[in-house]
Amino acid sequence: MRPIVITGFMGCGKSKVAQELAQRRNVAMVDLDEWITARVGRSPAELITEDGEAAFREIESNALRELLQANEAGVIALGGGAWIEKQNRDLIDQFSCISVWLDTPFAICWERIAASEEDRPLGRTRDQAQTLYQFRRPIYQLASIHIQMSDDETLDSVLARIESVLSM
Ligand code: S3P
Repeated sequence: MRPIVITGFMGCGKSKVAQELAQRRNVAMVDLDEWITARVGRSPAELITEDGEAAFREIESNALRELLQANEAGVIALGGGAWIEKQNRDLIDQFSCISVWLDTPFAICWERIAASEEDRPLGRTRDQAQTLYQFRRPIYQLASIHIQMSDDETLDSVLARIESVLSM
């Protein structure tokens, strides 16, 4: 089975959707950020804050490569910036993954980012997050499946929509 990678902006719902999708398909799910944290002993936020974004991106790419090579994850939730790096998209292609973009309205992403305890150094203010959101949209658009999320989308309905595209 081809691995499925879930991408989209911070707060778009990647981890939840990936978890549920993996459960329904009876495959393992890996959250790339959590995998990095377990491997390196520091979270992406700590890595970005302490070592800079470039250093984090290198770790992130290496982690993604290792993860895909290990071939253990049926569904992978990427961090919001992983898909933006061309070398990661090439890797995802090379391993014949199916990419799914959760296109969640900015207002919802921001609501979740603001309410979350998690530090997101690249989205600390609304303006910073919105600029990044706009910049990244055309790149997320390159994913093979585009799921436009409505304001009141339930987890069940997103899953049904993803499953229906995957079965085509
Ligand atoms: C990032 C998103 C974060 C995390 C890091 C960088 C980004 O993951 O990887 O803070 O560049 O958008 P989430 O999308 O899970 O918040």
